[in-house]
Amino acid sequence: MDKRIIVALDVKEKKKAIDIAESLSDIVFAFKINWPLVLYSSPEVIGEISQYGKVICDFKVADIPYTNSLITERVRDLGAWGIISHSFLGEESLKSVVNAAKGMHVFSVVAMSHPGSDMINSNAMQLMKLSIECGVYGFVAPANKIDDLRMIRSATDRVIISPGIGAQGGDPYTAVLNGSDYLIVGRSVYESDKPELEVSKLQQTAERAIEDR
Ligand code: XMP
Repeated sequence: MDKRIIVALDVKEKKKAIDIAESLSDIVFAFKINWPLVLYSSPEVIGEISQYGKVICDFKVADIPYTNSLITERVRDLGAWGIISHSFLGEESLKSVVNAAKGMHVFSVVAMSHPGSDMINSNAMQLMKLSIECGVYGFVAPANKIDDLRMIRSATDRVIISPGIGAQGGDPYTAVLNGSDYLIVGRSVYESDKPELEVSKLQQTAERAIEDR
């Protein structure tokens, strides 16, 4: 069975991030790096974590096309496998990310998991249409907002990666059953005494949900 878990490494210490990545490298689909780890260490951490698996940079790119291109090129050169971009900035901005990615996998944010995300989530269908036209590889959709996740799944067969599990209240079984392909999990894994056990449990749950679809 494919690996289904993406671990978000939102820790401040580079050594802790690398230790976790090393211990989980055989059992995760990918690692997700967000601004905190880069700002507390350096951009080179992207390449260092890449030695242990695919890295998706969750930089939620949201700027004018030229700046987006510069960000995306640098992320690709540092060794990332994927990048997360916002889509609400419009076609030219998102296209600039896809074009600069040159094979790196671009995930588009069309709905979010936090309280108060209604402003973006209520526009998810329009953002999906635009994202598909721009040629994104996949979508980020919330595991803890099942109605939004189902609607997004019904509109695409591209890859969906989902945060919102555990600390944000989402249930891993329900998320995968309703269309998520990969679960993004941060605190429940890196704050655990046994990260490997946490990932294994989540993987088993995801496999069960896929069988039950
Ligand atoms: P936790 O600790 O809540 O970490 O498991 C979740 C990770 O995912 C990020 N996050 C999101 N990224 N769209 C995104 O693109 C979202 O809706 C979303 N919700 C959470 C969060 O920053 C952390 O890295």
